[in-house]
Amino acid sequence: MKIGIDKIGFFTPHLYIDMNKLALARKEEPEKYTIGIGQDEMAVAPITQDPVTLAANAAFNILNDDDKKAIDFVIFGTETGIDHSKSAAIYVHHLLGLKPEARSIEMKQACYAATAAIQLAKGHIALNPDSKVLILASDIARYGLNTPGEVTQGAGAVAIVISANPRIMALEETSTYQTDDIMDFWRPVYSDTAYVDGKYSNEKYISFFSSVWNTYKEKTGLGLSDFEALCYHLPYTKMGLKALRTIYDEGTEADKERLVDYYQTSTTYNRRIGNIYTGSLYLSLLSLLEQKPLKDGSRIGLFSYGSGAVGEFFSGILQPDYREHLFIDKHMELFAARQEISIPEYEKIFEEVLPVDGSSLDLDVTKDPAPICLAGIKDHMRQYINKK
Ligand code: COA
Repeated sequence: MKIGIDKIGFFTPHLYIDMNKLALARKEEPEKYTIGIGQDEMAVAPITQDPVTLAANAAFNILNDDDKKAIDFVIFGTETGIDHSKSAAIYVHHLLGLKPEARSIEMKQACYAATAAIQLAKGHIALNPDSKVLILASDIARYGLNTPGEVTQGAGAVAIVISANPRIMALEETSTYQTDDIMDFWRPVYSDTAYVDGKYSNEKYISFFSSVWNTYKEKTGLGLSDFEALCYHLPYTKMGLKALRTIYDEGTEADKERLVDYYQTSTTYNRRIGNIYTGSLYLSLLSLLEQKPLKDGSRIGLFSYGSGAVGEFFSGILQPDYREHLFIDKHMELFAARQEISIPEYEKIFEEVLPVDGSSLDLDVTKDPAPICLAGIKDHMRQYINKK
């Protein structure tokens, strides 16, 4: 039985900044941000969007009534969760009106958790072929104003439906993975922003990629030429290119050209949204699938990395007419409706955070065009609304 991605969509807040302008404000050359880092724009989350609303908006855009009847497992991958105890999946389950006969959990391992969720979902569908699993990968990446990591922030979510006989991509059986206890990036429970050893995280990303890629080749007997395209976890778009460069001479000149060309396509949305942590790999996959037609039956390789660290390489085969099941128009509308804000406006929004002393708060949701918003906090409980 084929199991894989039946639907996939994303959501990002309506505000963004231009990275050329951020570079000038930080007294850097714009090319450092746009070429050296590889980011053109960065999504900014208003206070009325949190990881729950971003995920709920992503899923709200793609689910129909049949999906809602079939989904009996909701897995929420995030590293910016809103509660130490209750899973973010339950809020989304409620906001979307999913059936009560479902499991709902949250998973965490930096930017890797959605990949673990996909593997768990595969097992669930193998045992329950008529059901569907909803996977949410949602984060707001915050390193802090005037930090080296500032240019690699962003906000957004990807929603994925995993099912039997998937219409977009059938996942292949073999995947290779690795864990090592390292401190390249982490966020202690008392901190709103991440701690990171940026250069070390780049090195570890590459070494994990090398390790799982080599093991994958040994296990499967496949090589570079068997892949039409490779997608990478993209904390910033230059990162995946650095990893691709370590292997692109393993094939022919034509393989190299094809992989570099598709790689550029696979960075399209990430360049405009920034780092969305857990969802970044899947935003890259969406960029590739939606921005360039690939042949049915193409094999796509995916490299997932979550600092701390876990890495995994796996693959999928594109299904016949997969493009008919994408939400390209909706995603283009989302980009077209975004508003650019100035750097001082972004700094003001960045510093506007929810109270941490237990006090209540009402938020004005009228300025946020998203259907699902955070309307405030009352008695220590976040208040969500769905305007539609
Ligand atoms: N034109 C073109 N490129 C330029 C440039 C210019 N004017 N100025 C600098 N660059 C290039 C540098 O050569 C470098 O490229 P390279 O990495 O290919 O060598 C790149 O821009 C970044 O410059 P660097 O000086 O290394 O930036 P930095 O010290 O500000 O740090 C990160 C960059 C990514 C380490 C930092 O943003 C960070 O810590 N991010 C968070 C961690 C992260 O995302 N890790 C990824 C793994 S999960």
